[in-house]
Amino acid sequence: MKGVILAGGLAIRLRPLTWVTNKHLLPVYNKPMIYYPLEAMAKAEIKEVLITSSPDHSGDFETLLKSGEEFGIQLFYAIQENPRGGIAEAIMLAEDFAKGEKILVILGDNIFNFDLKKARDKFEKMGRGAMVFGVRMPTESKQYGVIEINAGNKVLSIEEKPEKPKSDIAQTGIYMYDETVFDKIKNLSPSARGELEVTDLNNIYVKEGTVSCELIDWWIDAGTSHDELLRANNLVAEKVRAGEL
Ligand code: DAU
Repeated sequence: MKGVILAGGLAIRLRPLTWVTNKHLLPVYNKPMIYYPLEAMAKAEIKEVLITSSPDHSGDFETLLKSGEEFGIQLFYAIQENPRGGIAEAIMLAEDFAKGEKILVILGDNIFNFDLKKARDKFEKMGRGAMVFGVRMPTESKQYGVIEINAGNKVLSIEEKPEKPKSDIAQTGIYMYDETVFDKIKNLSPSARGELEVTDLNNIYVKEGTVSCELIDWWIDAGTSHDELLRANNLVAEKVRAGEL
């Protein structure tokens, strides 16, 4: 299995912090934000990771992370020409890199402490399909995708930032896909906001009946607002001091 970390987008919600600096390079307690998904990749024993970012910032990631030796990972870099082309468009950049292997995708602003190794083993045994990762939280805030599951953790529906959420399970930015993901992305059309949406991609798998959901304990999307970035800093500091991260 190969890894993909997405670090593109314009991070408009975090301006003026992001006029010059890429969001994923902003500090979260004692490390740049992108270190957290990278460390999650290392814990999942992923050995090769592609980092996708926007044309203005790609060089900054290479300067910071270099070959990836510090993480025990071999790093590759790709540029997403349209910084708001959408999450699925960014995943598409990994087609040649994946070379027919399954992929683990993590959004570069997601911070969590869930050990993905077990889920990875389970997914690799599944053969085909996708795995999404959800977290229970009040979903009325319309900030996240919402996942509806049955008693066996099979996904019944995923809706992007719905008005009336069908469950209290938010879709995190952690996804595992089989080799058919790139053909599926080729069939997507841009949404109303002009992006190739990860939720539309995931719903192709839902229609096939091949998506399962793993629930994780805590997770934070540090990139949604200044307040969430501050909360991420405080929460990570607390967890590091308690030896939990
Ligand atoms: O964080 C979880 C949420 O992420 C999910 O609940 C939603 O279902 C999913 O659509 C996504 O929603 P956001 O609106 O939060 O996505 P955002 O535009 O903030 O992008 C998330 C990350 O993906 C961010 O780290 C930047 C990267 N990205 C985003 C876009 C649009 C790219 O690399 N390229 C892009 O074109």
